[in-house]
Amino acid sequence: MAIPVIDMKNLNGEGRVDIMLQIANGCETPGFFQLLNHGISHSLMDNVKKVCSENFMVSREKNFRQSFPVKMLNELMLVEVNGKKCTDMNDVDWEDVFQINDMEATNSWPSRPSNFRETMEEFRKEIFKLAEILLEIISLNLGLEKGYLKEAFAGEGKPLFGTKVSHYPPCPRPDLVKGIRSHTDAGGLILLFQDDEVPGLQVLNNGHWIDVQPTPYSVVIDIGDQLEVISGGKYKSAWHRILPTKDGNRLSVASFYNPSYSAMIYPALKVNIETEDDDAGLALTAYPKFQFGDYMSIYNKQKYEDKEPRFKAMTDINA
Ligand SMILES: [Fe+2]
Repeated sequence: MAIPVIDMKNLNGEGRVDIMLQIANGCETPGFFQLLNHGISHSLMDNVKKVCSENFMVSREKNFRQSFPVKMLNELMLVEVNGKKCTDMNDVDWEDVFQINDMEATNSWPSRPSNFRETMEEFRKEIFKLAEILLEIISLNLGLEKGYLKEAFAGEGKPLFGTKVSHYPPCPRPDLVKGIRSHTDAGGLILLFQDDEVPGLQVLNNGHWIDVQPTPYSVVIDIGDQLEVISGGKYKSAWHRILPTKDGNRLSVASFYNPSYSAMIYPALKVNIETEDDDAGLALTAYPKFQFGDYMSIYNKQKYEDKEPRFKAMTDINA
């Protein structure tokens, strides 16, 4: 099984109703889908790939080779040479990552390659536009006003819009470590420009991990925890992970359209949710109302754990 691929070419023409329906279905199951003809030019996407790869090679690769996960894996492999069994690396990721929003805040853009900043700023503008088009469609699909989600995420200020550039360099023992461990995303809507050759991203669907197939010039969309809450559970944030590979240096540029920290998040729809106890023994009967900043302070400590205890903690804060 593959995740849905939706062609947005006729969104503003005769295909609109059908495309909106495909997006609604993708949001429901599996909570991941890919978009083609989304309005971001191929040449810009090529440039993003180029500047990110160049930046990794000239500025980051050396540091990655000396990073904690690499040293740890080398030590584990030495243990194996000595006849003992290697243990899995359960609390680190095989990932090189930097956040563009940090650079914007501190004006510390990489100097190499020279067109890095210009390219990434242009890309962020385009992906922001796409995020807002999708939020309008998702609002309408949920039976809400077109601007509902944009206003809900802005709160009293403006949405948090971040971009994370990651590389997953070749890993000699992909059986021992994950590129990123399984998690659901905390925020609103996630727009991912992923490598079109090196695979690795998988999403959990009905108990099975399925590949998010590399598709040239696509943008992968996934639903974050906050959209799950606002939709009353009609849409669910999906578990996903990245598996490292022995060959190929996977690139991933993920942009997050998230609520502002002060935004109040609560269900806009009343949808019955399952009330069976989850693994943590919690029976959640309704999604809570909370401030996104409070959610993030818990998420930052519990990213790789079940989301239900996080929702429960938000209920308890306001009890
Ligand atoms: Fe994620």
